[in-house]
Amino acid sequence: MGAVWLTPVFVSPMEDNGYDVADYYTINPLYGSNEDMDALIEAAGQRGIRIVMDLVYNHTSDQHEWFRESMQSRDNAYSDWYIWRDAKPDGSAPTNWRSIFGGSAWTWCESRQQYYLHTFAPSQPDLNWENPEVRQALYDIANYWVDKGVGGFRMDAIPYIKKPPVFKDGTPDGVDGMSDVHAMTVNTPGILDFLHEFRQQVQDGTDIFTVGEANGVGPDDLPDWVGSNGVFDMIFSFDHLVDGDNWRVEKQWKLTDVKQALTAAEAVTAEAGWYPVFFENHDKPRSIDSYFPEDADPVLAGRAMGTVLLTLRGTPFIYEGEELGYTNVAWPSIDDYNDLNSRSQYNSALSEGYTEAEALSFVHRHSRDNARTPMQWNAEANAGFTTGTPWLPVHDDYTSENAQAEAADPASVLAWYHRLADFRQANEVLCDGDYREVAASSEQVYAFTRENGDDKLLIAVNFSGSEAPVDLTGSGIASFEDVEVLLSSYDDIEATAGTPEALRPYEAIVARIR
Ligand code: NOJ
Repeated sequence: MGAVWLTPVFVSPMEDNGYDVADYYTINPLYGSNEDMDALIEAAGQRGIRIVMDLVYNHTSDQHEWFRESMQSRDNAYSDWYIWRDAKPDGSAPTNWRSIFGGSAWTWCESRQQYYLHTFAPSQPDLNWENPEVRQALYDIANYWVDKGVGGFRMDAIPYIKKPPVFKDGTPDGVDGMSDVHAMTVNTPGILDFLHEFRQQVQDGTDIFTVGEANGVGPDDLPDWVGSNGVFDMIFSFDHLVDGDNWRVEKQWKLTDVKQALTAAEAVTAEAGWYPVFFENHDKPRSIDSYFPEDADPVLAGRAMGTVLLTLRGTPFIYEGEELGYTNVAWPSIDDYNDLNSRSQYNSALSEGYTEAEALSFVHRHSRDNARTPMQWNAEANAGFTTGTPWLPVHDDYTSENAQAEAADPASVLAWYHRLADFRQANEVLCDGDYREVAASSEQVYAFTRENGDDKLLIAVNFSGSEAPVDLTGSGIASFEDVEVLLSSYDDIEATAGTPEALRPYEAIVARIR
């Protein structure tokens, strides 16, 4: 059974790519109608595919009718649906919290003469989960879509829904004298009560699956969050991502950091719950640019990432275009970018004294729009995505990097994804086999075994541009004589002489252990 996760498709002013919902019951006309959604669920179901929706429950759009009411006065039916506080005696914001997109997490509202809290942009006011009416309204929305036949939900920004009982200033952590709202509110004790309630009211007794976007929920918390005693089926962990949140300072990372993070996640989910494997999403630049040097062959790099993605123990989440080997864009002006976080980061960089060229280079490297360009179907206008005007231009490379061209080319990234997906379907050990890391100290190679009784595979990926040995010490594999290469991303298994003693630059192999 496969599934397609749609980022939010609800009515929205689209200030934040739909993560600002104005009506949870209606499909955004930009995408279609509620009837189109019914038809999608039905047609996907006939092909064994479930549709997963993105529930944005920490906040709504400021255009949602709940907020429009709430902001009118301190005593209306929705007055307590959001988080309102009086100003400090000097008129300033109730706390010094910095929102995740930059600037204060509080915005003044003239009509109420109060501030409201927004963990993200001012157009995304946080809901007050302490109010049982709010919670019920949110569960009703989820149940409406469950009744429509959706296969599950991705729960957006979920660790922020519970706020601390007392709001206090945090220790300033930047030149703006503010303190990151994340540190002040993430995973606040009591949050699990809300989420258990969600599980009981929405998930129990259904066949849906849930995955939480849970930045800040660590391995120690995992048993409370996933698995039979948890609240979700899986949660995304972000420790293995190498694109840093601080755009001004290039994150220094080593392959061993990535491997350790993945191995730790595999270890905890071997005990409780299940692991969602991913390297890309709509919030991150393209993985080929993040994990590989500029001069790496992009097809081999795309194949290397795909190999890890499709062979680790867990559910692989393939992000649109990842299977085609998409890379970042670099547009000449900030005006070409739509992502509100990119614009905010650009402006903050200028106000900190960086030049326009420097600020733009941060955007080129880290912008979320790198991963938000339209899907490239073919070499026609707008890559066959639309006859209208897309929200962002298509990537320049669309005439060669498109689904149609790659489907016809056995040497493409897409062809490799197909081969690996077929292999995965045919080899159950990739679904349920144990994971064991091999050659953990190598800064060139990520290698691991998947084992289920006598069914054993070795996966090895060279992240470096030079030839790299695979060190079998401690792997339980006696010698390379016991290893037979079944797939190589170079498409010429013969050249490995059947063994992966030395991987070629950026080579990925899948081998059987005899
Ligand atoms: C996480 C989403 O993935 C991101 O795209 C969005 O901007 C924030 N949550 C706010 O909803």
